[in-house]
Amino acid sequence: MSYRTIQVAIEDNIATITLNRPEKKNAMNPTMHHEMSSVLDELEYDEAVRVLVITGAGDSFCAGQDLKEYFYDLQDKPADRARARREAEWRANRLRLFPKPTIAAVNGWCFGGAFTIVASCDIAVAAEEAVFGLSEVNFGKLPGGHVTRAVTDHLHPKDALFYILTGRTFDGKKAAEMKFVTYAVPKARLMEEVKTLAGELAKKNPVVLRSAKEAYRYNLAMDYEVAGAWLTAKSNELNYLSGDTWKNGVEQFKRGEFRPGLGNYEWER
Ligand code: ACO
Repeated sequence: MSYRTIQVAIEDNIATITLNRPEKKNAMNPTMHHEMSSVLDELEYDEAVRVLVITGAGDSFCAGQDLKEYFYDLQDKPADRARARREAEWRANRLRLFPKPTIAAVNGWCFGGAFTIVASCDIAVAAEEAVFGLSEVNFGKLPGGHVTRAVTDHLHPKDALFYILTGRTFDGKKAAEMKFVTYAVPKARLMEEVKTLAGELAKKNPVVLRSAKEAYRYNLAMDYEVAGAWLTAKSNELNYLSGDTWKNGVEQFKRGEFRPGLGNYEWER
């Protein structure tokens, strides 16, 4: 399938989606939202894909919503606007609940609506030189579309409000210090680092990874007792779906073939 605003490459069980409007700093227009919604459907069911990486072309990760095409041009077109809003949802629950591990590789500019992509990915690695900003107040808006929720979930209130209210920028190092991203590396090493990390995840049992991710995401909305009972049921579900693969792991451990504390069992055996 060919796309106009994104590029998709699959190699070694890792799918890399590159937001690809570098001349517009990868701002998200309605076409990009449509294409991202479609490609996530494709990649979810592609058995060759075990890990998803999202990055940006050129010097930008994503400059947020396309201020002209998404906001300005659609203001008097309610049906088109509703469709674009619906398709823009890929960044929120679609990505949060994507049944494979997801990594945001934040290579450069990251503004407004792009925060939702970073927050919804399971892991985010930033270039130390990347520049993040909640620029909404700078042009008369508030951070909507799950952006405020993204910073509420990830940042200390004093940091969240500081950046929401001032619209000031921060770099990848600061993003890592505040835990908005998992960690930061020099830009020159970013994609190599993400490839190694994705490769590590691609070697693990995908059924187990999916269950572990769902266990994390869904139990947050439950009270303590319900979470405990649900996680037991989830664990039983995993045993069923994986054909009790954990027994192979323990048998390999008993034979002294690996140390679970320090490495992975051979789940394909
Ligand atoms: N929407 C539409 N076009 C954009 C956007 C955007 N969010 N960001 C950049 N562009 C376009 C510019 O208009 C310019 O287009 P042109 O060449 O046709 O004039 C092109 O991308 C290059 O941008 P420059 O501003 O020339 O690049 P520069 O390197 O100087 O600055 C920066 C980059 C800081 C990212 C700047 O473009 C910018 O401030 N963009 C807006 C960021 C923003 O506030 N995003 C919205 C967040 S709010 C939300 O998402 C809901």
